[in-house]
Amino acid sequence: MLQRSGSKMPEMGGESQKGKEKEVPVSFDNLRDKNLMQLKKLNTAIFPVRYNDKYYCDALSAGEFTKLAYYSDICVGSIACRLEKKEGGGIRVYIMTLGVLAPYRGLGIGSKLLNHCLDLCLHDPNISEIYLHVQTNNEEAISFYKKFGFEIVETIKNYYINISPPDCFVVRKILNAFPKPKGSS
Ligand SMILES: CC(C)(COP(=O)(O)OP(=O)(O)OC[C@H]1O[C@@H](n2cnc3c(N)ncnc32)[C@H](O)[C@@H]1OP(=O)(O)O)[C@@H](O)C(=O)NCCC(=O)NCCS
Repeated sequence: MLQRSGSKMPEMGGESQKGKEKEVPVSFDNLRDKNLMQLKKLNTAIFPVRYNDKYYCDALSAGEFTKLAYYSDICVGSIACRLEKKEGGGIRVYIMTLGVLAPYRGLGIGSKLLNHCLDLCLHDPNISEIYLHVQTNNEEAISFYKKFGFEIVETIKNYYINISPPDCFVVRKILNAFPKPKGSS
């Protein structure tokens, strides 16, 4: 099991983009050098892809957009993002991974992680879209993202090496940030 290490800053999932979230005892923690191994262990358990140093560097740089999720004191899930500068200005958020250990799926933990990220996006007027790649046979994840208003916008053939099928969908949600209050600059 993946136990929490070091100090914690627990927080509950934030306001929901898809209605009422399930009441589960989940807390979030920021990713930092000290608990990076937790994310590495999670990724090994959940994903068929091995992630390189740049992935972990980007995940750390994304600050609040990358979170570990704890069920009691067990690290059971994570969202890891990369913030990308768009040509012509603005930022888009790329979800590099969002995963929950199999025994803890269906409890609303994935929704809490994604809602946390969507809430951050909606409060930043510079962020105009959020997207990810998902393997074309990953129906569970595709239906999960569709529930949050994501749409399949592209298919990329042979995106993955060494896994079958090698094709992915680009899944995207265009964001309209909350308008700034009148009088603010
Ligand atoms: C996708 C994933 C993160 C969802 O996490 P989760 O904690 O199980 O998600 P939730 O419990 O919040 O489920 C939210 C909704 O997703 C959908 N969903 C979840 N599991 C599903 C399944 N097995 N089949 C179909 N829909 C499913 C449901 O609509 C569900 O809402 P409901 O419970 O009200 O019916 C999880 O399945 C996972 O880790 N998958 C493996 C990694 C992966 O493929 N990640 C996505 C690519 S980065």
